[in-house]
Amino acid sequence: MSLIDDLNWRYATKRFDSTKKVSKEDLRTVKEVIRLSASSYGLQPYEVMVIESQELKEKLRPACWNQPQLEEASAVFVFCNKSKVSEHDINEYVKLKTQTQGLKVEDLKGYADFMVGKICKQDEAWQSNWTARQAYIALGNLLMSCANLKIDACPMEGFEAPVVDEILDLKAKGLTTAVIATIGYRSKEDQTADQKKVRKAEENLFTHL
Ligand SMILES: Cc1cc2nc3c(=O)[nH]c(=O)nc-3n(C[C@H](O)[C@H](O)[C@H](O)COP(=O)(O)O)c2cc1C
Repeated sequence: MSLIDDLNWRYATKRFDSTKKVSKEDLRTVKEVIRLSASSYGLQPYEVMVIESQELKEKLRPACWNQPQLEEASAVFVFCNKSKVSEHDINEYVKLKTQTQGLKVEDLKGYADFMVGKICKQDEAWQSNWTARQAYIALGNLLMSCANLKIDACPMEGFEAPVVDEILDLKAKGLTTAVIATIGYRSKEDQTADQKKVRKAEENLFTHL
C-alpha cells in the first residue's frame, strides 16, 4: 500500500522552500536510482546535470518560462539526451558489457551490428526522439524515488531547449535538453499541494483482454 500512499503524497510542486536542502545521502540515492534505470538495449543514451549552484539555477530560470521552481528548489536535474547515437557509443556499451559480464567482444558482434542497424541508421530526428524517450524512464524513476524519500519534485517540460542547451554548453557534448526535474521541499505557500489529483477513471485507462 505504501507505494500508492507515496504516489498520492507527491504532486508537481510549484513552490519550494528554498531554505530546505536535500541531504547529500538522499541526493546520492536519487542519482543511483537514475543510474539503475532501465533503457532500451541498456544503452543509457543520456547524461544528467545535477545543479545545486544558486547562480546557475537563477540563470536557468528565464529559460524555463520563468518558473520559480528553478531558483527555489534544492537541486535541478537536467536530463540531457544524446542528439544522435554513433557506432562509437554502441562500441563503448559493448566494451562495458563485456568487461562487466566477462564476455568477449566477438560474442556480441551480431548484437552490436543489430543495434547499429536499428538505431544509428535512422535519421537524426528519430535518434534524438528515441534517446529522449530513454531519459524519460529515468525521470519517472526519479519521481517515484523522491516520493518514497518524501522529497518533493516537479517534472518540467516548460523550458526553451535551445536556450538551456546554450547555458549548459550541451551542443559541444552532443547533448540536448530532454526534460528537467526540480527537487526539494514544498513551501507552505504552495497552494497546489492540497489539490485533489485529476486522473482518468480506471475503466478509461485500462482494457483487459
Ligand atoms: C513531462 C512533464 C512535464 C511537466 N512540465 C511541467 C512544468 O514545466 N511546470 C509545472 O509546473 N509542471 C509540469 N508538469 C507537471 C504536470 O502538470 C503534473 O504532473 C500533472 O498535472 C499531474 O499532477 P501531479 O503530478 O501533481 O499529480 C509536468 C509533468 C510532466 C510529467
